Amino acid sequence: MRNFDEHNITEAVLDRLASTRSQRLKHISSALVRHLHDFVREIEPTQQEWEYAIDFLTRTGQMCSDTRQEFILLSDALGVSMLVDAINHRFPGNATETTVLGPFFVKEAPELPLGSVISRPEDGPALLIEGSVRSLDGLPLASASVDIWHADADGYYDVQRDADELSSRVRVRTDENGNFWVRGAIPAAYPIPNDGPVGQMLEAQGRHPYRPAHVHFMIAASGYETLVTHLFLANSDYLDSDVVFGVKDSLIERLQDTQPGITAHGAKVEHPTPTLRRDFVLAPAR
Ligand code: BEZ
Ligand code: FE
Repeated sequence: MRNFDEHNITEAVLDRLASTRSQRLKHISSALVRHLHDFVREIEPTQQEWEYAIDFLTRTGQMCSDTRQEFILLSDALGVSMLVDAINHRFPGNATETTVLGPFFVKEAPELPLGSVISRPEDGPALLIEGSVRSLDGLPLASASVDIWHADADGYYDVQRDADELSSRVRVRTDENGNFWVRGAIPAAYPIPNDGPVGQMLEAQGRHPYRPAHVHFMIAASGYETLVTHLFLANSDYLDSDVVFGVKDSLIERLQDTQPGITAHGAKVEHPTPTLRRDFVLAPAR
């Protein structure tokens, strides 16, 4: 076959995929070719625009390093990460909703005892973070692993600072009642890394690069789906314009003022302390 034109080239490429061994790969490759060709037919790029697109993707790749993943940022800023998240987490009823992982998760966070102070004084005003981990039917999940990480009051994560001292980041295990509590700092809203191609794209699209203030959680318990989510602070800016489309109403929490004493989750509080509290519900493993 030869003499392809703008009308018959799509079928020709699809024919070449006919002997793809994996049926899944064949499905994915065919859909990619169909959508990509339709996209090009719709926008009718000039040669110069196509070169710009190739250069944009090249620069996106070149921006990637061990500590920077510009392609994930691109996927986040185009809403693709949240779309993949939604498709993969069609959880039943009252299971806690999910949202993006983000680039600031650290696999081996310091594992500390319940009640640990995880933020430095300069990270911001103290915040008690407490809650529980439960099954759909309310059963407390003891010894669940709870990773918590958040930005500081200036909107920076520990891993964005030069020093390699970790802070506002921890892994704890729930107690026998499924409860956990740690002492962090109140995080601020912050811009996603915007000194690369994704930042240029946002600028060209007339978009701001900000995420509303939030605290990240990754919660794992044997026999349950691992939950990757955040809690957003109710008084934050950008709740309706999160640059990565991650906000869900069910994940917004108002800070409570906890008075001295022992909280229902077991935290000992000596001074009135702003508190972010949530009882998380995990879906059973599929
Ligand atoms: C974050 O919340 O840490 C994040 C998520 C997506 C892109 C950039 C940052
Ligand atoms: Fe974040």
